[in-house]
Amino acid sequence: MNEPTVARLPDDLARTVADPKSYAEWDSLHETLKLIRRDYPFARATIENYNPFWVASTYKDIQEVAKNNDVFLSGLGPLIDNDTVKAAKAAGQEATFRSIVAMNPPDHDKYRKLAQWWFQPKNLRPLENRIRGIARDYIDKLADLGGTCDFVKDIAYHYPLLVVMNALGVPAADEPRILKWTQQYFGNNDAELNRTSSSVSVQESAGSVADVIRETNAYFKVFSDARRREPTDDLISVIANSTIDGESISDVDAMGYYISAAFAGHDTTSSSVSGGMWALCENPDQFERVKADLSLIPSLVEESIRWTTPIHQFTRIAAADCVVHNQQVKKGDWVVLCFPSGNRDEAAFDKPFEFIIDRKPNRHIGFGYGPHICIGMHLARMEMRIFFEELIPRLKSVSLAGIPTRTITNFVGGPKSLPIRYELS
Ligand code: HEM
Repeated sequence: MNEPTVARLPDDLARTVADPKSYAEWDSLHETLKLIRRDYPFARATIENYNPFWVASTYKDIQEVAKNNDVFLSGLGPLIDNDTVKAAKAAGQEATFRSIVAMNPPDHDKYRKLAQWWFQPKNLRPLENRIRGIARDYIDKLADLGGTCDFVKDIAYHYPLLVVMNALGVPAADEPRILKWTQQYFGNNDAELNRTSSSVSVQESAGSVADVIRETNAYFKVFSDARRREPTDDLISVIANSTIDGESISDVDAMGYYISAAFAGHDTTSSSVSGGMWALCENPDQFERVKADLSLIPSLVEESIRWTTPIHQFTRIAAADCVVHNQQVKKGDWVVLCFPSGNRDEAAFDKPFEFIIDRKPNRHIGFGYGPHICIGMHLARMEMRIFFEELIPRLKSVSLAGIPTRTITNFVGGPKSLPIRYELS
């Protein structure tokens, strides 16, 4: 084997990967990612105002880094600039929110285990009827809207949130405020979605995220305390009454779990549903195929997730010097897992730029890979499947009724507005 080297990612390409605005320009983002995969598949970026970071752009490299959580530590979320890191510390974000997605061995495994069984398909089966009821309400709402709507704002933002709230065990009536919190948390770079509805400084943005976390902590604490006194079959009861190393879970950790489930389970699934609808509008032949054969719905779900890849990035920190793709990574370097790039990798997928509802195999990495692979993936698949099972048989036609837009974010996002025209029976 050759001596490891250090490939350098050109600054303009590195800025495209880092900049939240790039993810709203999906096609041109993918042009850049294609070039990165071809010429700089695993390369180091050193751009102003960022810790040096590597970009893992191929399917294989993303898997290699993601599976090795002893060497590549979680904790950062997406790639963030130095000003945002400082502002987040100053706003006290670290002290208020601890989630399994940011944990490392040995804690990660212990905390993941306490709820993992609850998310298994067998345990979720009893939820199926409740979820189907919520899906039917939204298909009826689509019918009431009379043939045109903004599918994201009218349907897709709400349905997965109600499902996850139902799973957690909080009242459906609280949906508007939880929706606002999740949008403010993930859409913070997007003036239309953040707290101030305008462009904000990094200090304001970090302060706003910290406020969201403080408010959601206070909200969930009431339910958590109640379920400790009187447990039910919901997810809050499971977490609130769990133990770690023989001690009851702390309030900070329990709140982190509820917030992770509510936030991670919402925007991701709603983006995947609306990303799938958008693709069906643009690929009428695929719409006709699934209408003619409803058994294709589970693979439509998988392809919608691959196509949309709502989690755009997670960053890992190298805990030791190591070699990836024959490149010398140094302890302390950051590695950006670029999931949308992995899911369009020509080496892993046949015709990756085509939306093919019966793609086989479809081993996408939209749910991540390795020890942090999405804990909620079976719930996400189930609620998407149920939604399309209720919708597709009644949907006679669907097409775009305007120009869709995407969220400005390098973290969790997808379609922000999807104007559609449709006929329902
Ligand atoms: C289509 C929908 C979804 C997508 C695309 C998605 C994607 C992901 C990805 C890529 C990760 C890995 C993060 C990493 O590697 O660091 C992840 C982790 C996670 N997801 Fe999801 N997710 C979805 C739905 C859900 C749902 C419905 C829930 C819960 C209700 C959920 C809860 C979580 C949690 C708690 C983690 C952290 C797991 C860990 O660190 O061990 N997700 N998700």
